[in-house]
Amino acid sequence: MIKIAPSILSADFCNLERDIHRIRSADWVHVDVMDGCFVPNITIGVPVVKSIRNHTDMFLDVHLMIDKPVRYVKAFAQAGADLLSIHLEADHPTRIAEALKIMEDCGVKKAVALRPITAAEAVLPYLEKLDMVLVMTVEPGFGGQAFLERQLDTIRRVRQLIDEVNPACELEVDGGINPVTARQVVEAGANVLVAGSSVYGAPDIELAIASLRQPPEN
Ligand code: DX5
Ligand code: ZN
Repeated sequence: MIKIAPSILSADFCNLERDIHRIRSADWVHVDVMDGCFVPNITIGVPVVKSIRNHTDMFLDVHLMIDKPVRYVKAFAQAGADLLSIHLEADHPTRIAEALKIMEDCGVKKAVALRPITAAEAVLPYLEKLDMVLVMTVEPGFGGQAFLERQLDTIRRVRQLIDEVNPACELEVDGGINPVTARQVVEAGANVLVAGSSVYGAPDIELAIASLRQPPEN
């Protein structure tokens, strides 16, 4: 089943509760955490995730675009995240493994995320224990960027590895997803679609979510 995870990066932060309510026909809420270090942008942190948790029962998919995530995974888990994605480029492999272990101990779902530069095979040391792999289809940092078509190969390769090693693992894509690119990524093997500007920028949010779920035939 395809899951839609609108990114609140494109929401109105002064009206977050309203804007989360507007995406209630979606499956997950995608929360982009940026530290101004791993990516050249700063967004939201632990207290905001905690407040969101107090106002919605929706599944909170928290994408950590932060350096050395091992320092913060426990805090985000305790704030009420359902799933945490940490970037493989954000620390040494031993510290990534350590962060995943902390996540497991906290009972939060575990994902690793790949920048466009990172090869699909980089997930292999962790794949067996993961709940999800996140393939970036833009350079992380900002909403509203154009989809990187060359990432379709990475999605296909990650799908192959998932099917071989851990078929229950979800494959999420993030960046430049609209009804046209949604079709391409689903064909390549993705099953969770993040979309910020194409959902919140649409005149009818519910329709935008529905058209991502069922991309048009041509
Ligand atoms: C980018 C973020 C994305 C972003 C997607 O670094 O991880 O989640 O909000 O925005 P759109 O869908 O506008 O590309
Ligand atoms: Zn994201």
